[in-house]
Amino acid sequence: MVRIAVIPGDGIGPDVTAEAKKVLQTIADCLGKKVESVDFDFGAERYLKDGTSLPAGALEHFRSEFDAIFLGALGDPRVPDMKHATDILYGIRFGLDLYANIRPVKLLDRRLTPLKNTIESDVDFVILRENTEDFYTGIGGSIKKGSADEIAVQESVSTRKGVERIIETAFSFAAKNRLQKVTMTDKGNILRFDGDLWQRTFWSAAKRYPQIQSEHLYIDALAMMILKNPGRFKVIVAGNMFGDILCDMGAELQGGLGIAPSGNINPEGICMFEPVHGSAPKYAGLNVANPMGAILSVQMMLEHLGWKEAGSCIETAVKECIREGECTRDLGGKLGTREVGNAICSRLKANMS
Ligand code: NAD
Ligand code: IPM
Ligand code: MN
Repeated sequence: MVRIAVIPGDGIGPDVTAEAKKVLQTIADCLGKKVESVDFDFGAERYLKDGTSLPAGALEHFRSEFDAIFLGALGDPRVPDMKHATDILYGIRFGLDLYANIRPVKLLDRRLTPLKNTIESDVDFVILRENTEDFYTGIGGSIKKGSADEIAVQESVSTRKGVERIIETAFSFAAKNRLQKVTMTDKGNILRFDGDLWQRTFWSAAKRYPQIQSEHLYIDALAMMILKNPGRFKVIVAGNMFGDILCDMGAELQGGLGIAPSGNINPEGICMFEPVHGSAPKYAGLNVANPMGAILSVQMMLEHLGWKEAGSCIETAVKECIREGECTRDLGGKLGTREVGNAICSRLKANMS
């Protein structure tokens, strides 16, 4: 029995989450296992109604009652400063210390990549994004706001503890999954203090993993190489901001934001799984959003919870749907969100019976 706390959120979040939940239930039924999910109404609607973003006690509730958290997406044009979204998303990522954001970039069908002469095995790497530091700590401020002399300061923070643990995660992830290479990226040629900490930490960890090839690339060069020769990457470890940007690039290589999954991990505690995409407000409620990123996030969640066979079954069903054109418009198909969810569930049932 697993218990999942589900936050559908804003925009297309509820659309894709509904399909993710269908897949979760289907796979549990096929395996004869029990899954219970409880919806939480955290998001713009509730925030606009009563001012609640992440209620007090929510994290404790998640920790004590649930095995994992699933999030759809957050962000609503009626809350232009994203206050509710940052309270919820960062309340959870920081509050539960989910320091490793694992974002696999895997091409499931060669027709989906915009790169020419590229096959599935050329795009198969994992981005490990540090998830609790960098520019995301919110340190900064502005003075003389609105005047010609206005100054805005936004600080980036890297701590030894934070850098050490994400780099260690990258090497141990590579070792566990028999991946031969870890690439660390920063902008140490100009962000010298930050780069110094990242590079010392990286090369010192690399010595402990002599069987793994270690490489360092500045972020601009890496962004170029990821398009030129994605096949050279296996595990990429990056700070929060560079990691965020790389993940959207990576998503495009595999077919777009609609198909990219992620997990926010702390190996010691409850973790959160969510598609990489945002709330795409213009598509909300129209039955057009691609639910595959959310569904592949369910795959990551179940693998994390130890349902190994569930993971590979979901990936197979998604691949079959893509191959047969049972997908949404962003992947060149004609189906709606719900129909794609149903198609994946039908294939799961057929494959697992
Ligand atoms: P977005 O990811 O919501 O959408 C960008 C574009 O990607 C869309 O216009 C659409 O063309 C495509 N897209 C994204 N998801 C798709 C899907 N499932 N199916 C088909 N196409 C899809 O990014 P944005 O427009 O920059 O941001 C919208 C809101 O979401 C903002 O408020 C932003 O801050 C927020 N956001 C939230 C998260 C999160 O909850 N983790 C992540 C990113 C952005
Ligand atoms: C993501 C998103 C968020 C981030 C935004 C919505 C703050 O882009 O999950 O990738 O930058 O972490
Ligand atoms: Mn992002």
